Amino acid sequence: MKKRVGLLLAIITALVMLVMPLGTQSAHAADTSLQDIQKKGVLVMGTSPDYPPYEFQATVNGKSKVVGMDVQIGQKVAKDLGVKLKIKSMSFDSLLVALQTGKVDMIISGMNPTPARRKNVAFTNTYYQGGYDIVINKTDAAKYKNKDSFNGGTLGAQTGTTQYNAAKKQTKNTQVKGMTSQSDLILALQSHKIDGVAMEKPSAEAYVANNKQLAAIPSKFNMSSSATSSAIAFRKGSTSLVNKVNQTVAEIKQEKLVKKTYLPTAGKYLKTNTVNTSMGHYWQAFLTGIEYTLIITVCSVFFGFIIGIVLALARMAKGGVFKTILRWIATAYVEFIRGTPMMVQVMFVYFGLGLFVNLPALTSGIIAISLNSGAYVAEYIRGGINSVDVGQTEAARSLGMSNGRTMRYVILPQALKNIWPSLGNEFITLIKDSSIVSIIGVTELIYQSNIVRSDTYRGVAPIVVIMVLYFILTFTASRILNYFERRMQHA
Ligand code: ARG
Repeated sequence: MKKRVGLLLAIITALVMLVMPLGTQSAHAADTSLQDIQKKGVLVMGTSPDYPPYEFQATVNGKSKVVGMDVQIGQKVAKDLGVKLKIKSMSFDSLLVALQTGKVDMIISGMNPTPARRKNVAFTNTYYQGGYDIVINKTDAAKYKNKDSFNGGTLGAQTGTTQYNAAKKQTKNTQVKGMTSQSDLILALQSHKIDGVAMEKPSAEAYVANNKQLAAIPSKFNMSSSATSSAIAFRKGSTSLVNKVNQTVAEIKQEKLVKKTYLPTAGKYLKTNTVNTSMGHYWQAFLTGIEYTLIITVCSVFFGFIIGIVLALARMAKGGVFKTILRWIATAYVEFIRGTPMMVQVMFVYFGLGLFVNLPALTSGIIAISLNSGAYVAEYIRGGINSVDVGQTEAARSLGMSNGRTMRYVILPQALKNIWPSLGNEFITLIKDSSIVSIIGVTELIYQSNIVRSDTYRGVAPIVVIMVLYFILTFTASRILNYFERRMQHA
């Protein structure tokens, strides 16, 4: 009973310590936003490149790139500030968090400056007025006229967007299906999983112009002008930066740059984008994916193993107060990690710890997965150590070996041999599960397949390709592990 209470307390203390600093950030620091960016020399723009002509992936000179009118606006903003532009892609619903936690410096992503968003971030003046359409399959053109025609049907919209809220509030008897990626919504539409996709009119027109099977109808959503025009978002309180960028926005509007140059350029990319959609054409993207998947897995297995040994020893520590506390902490850690989804842990390390230290996505991913794997490995090791006969310890001790040396030279090697199959399993599992870090934008296999999907508008082929690639990876790994297992048996 006493043990339980201690454990519970340890868990709660750990939780409180983790969460407390998040709420106590000072809100009124002096505004140095403009100086900060100019000193840094780079402006990181967050965007969700699934929204042509605003932003989308296109193959330029054999390389996949983010292009579109928002990218050109970003370039002009950076140029006027005298800094370099860096683009960071992520799903639309991650953008606001990424801005608030300093992962990006600004958002340009066709984002509407709605009152709800204004509570959390600062917007420039609007640079473009869109309005809303609904994209449907052309074969259904007779059936659907506007939002009210979807009675009894399903309307799709990207999660976290204005149109998603509108679809929820302004339709009757219509199921609203939210997905994080706009390209996935289009694929769902084409495979008749949903009946329509709501989106900004220019985007609807771009999708329709690129795909003969699609058509656009007016949405008839009732929306305020702040919900139909786009603006650039910065962190709250960045008044000096926003004021400066407003000059750029004013110039863009005055010279009608969007209509005159940005949109036509985007249109050109959209056409060249439909040229080659064979999977072989994207071998480089898949290769990079394999590379990153392996980097993450190998690093995480290595660090996870070290963490695992430390945790296992801590969990098995017996005696004095200090060792008891150590045991509690290790136990609480293992229970906590096993009791929360790895996806949440990855986001916590990236966004949560990101408030204190700005870790790149790859590092965050490796840290999160190592910490996670460590908890599981600790249990294997503990089991392995327990599986070694006590006679071994007694023999070593009676030969005059110290506790530490007994562990290192007698127990651990035998334990390792016993748990080798479980460790191998962990390795294989990590090859597959490391795919979770795609959500924070690490360019591993899943991430690459998403890029290829939005590049080619092909839904199934990239999935088949990565399925085969993952299998080749795991199968090779398990052969190699078997080989070592056999050698250890002979030793
Ligand atoms: N206009 C909508 C909003 O602000 C959607 C923008 C979606 N943008 C994108 N890049 N997918 O909520």
